[in-house]
Amino acid sequence: MINLNPLRIALTKGRLEKSTIELFEKLGYNCDEVHNKGRRLILSIGGGKFEVVLAKAADVITYVEHGVCDLGVVGKDTILENGTAFYELLDLGFGRCRFALACKKGYDFYHGYGTKTIATKYPKVTRNFFENKNMDVRVIKIEGSVELAPLVGLSDGIVDIVETGSTLKANNLEIIEYVTDISARLIANTASLKLRKAEIEELVGKMEAEVK
Ligand code: PRP
Repeated sequence: MINLNPLRIALTKGRLEKSTIELFEKLGYNCDEVHNKGRRLILSIGGGKFEVVLAKAADVITYVEHGVCDLGVVGKDTILENGTAFYELLDLGFGRCRFALACKKGYDFYHGYGTKTIATKYPKVTRNFFENKNMDVRVIKIEGSVELAPLVGLSDGIVDIVETGSTLKANNLEIIEYVTDISARLIANTASLKLRKAEIEELVGKMEAEVK
């Protein structure tokens, strides 16, 4: 049975949005509506074949998990921190960066037995990282510009995203250890994967061939 409703894709606003739209255009789908979106949040692409919903990263997962979007494009960082009930279909290869543990330059992070304090936007990722080391840490949740925390004495270190490394460098911080690699992923609602299998497989096949 052919479903005439467009496949609905939740897209992380910003950098991942730009790369995803470039990918859709490479696959031959018209994305003019996205380029001329103004303040609109729901946009048609590929002549109505797809509908794109623009959302913040963590909300992309919420929309997909609740089944109001069939697919989503979101960073592995958000998946590791927030994700549970969906399928991860494809590594899209863009949005590459890494999670790293960093601290003030010259600070001997692993020295001594006292419990260390870590500031981060990603408490779950941070806890998992230190649990794997059997190391007890105190985690403080920060909403942004995490690099500030060790500079003002709130924490011994940070776990944060590092892309070029320039934010760390500009703030006299250095990487102690990499935690894990990050890139954009295509995710799918579990029911959509069954109900709209053919359409999703067609898109994934095309994307896979392009991002290889
Ligand atoms: C991210 C991250 C780092 C910075 C890393 O922050 O939290 O601060 O980018 O990039 P770099 O290694 O290329 O310098 P973002 O720009 O998302 O802002 P935020 O910290 O306010 O969330």
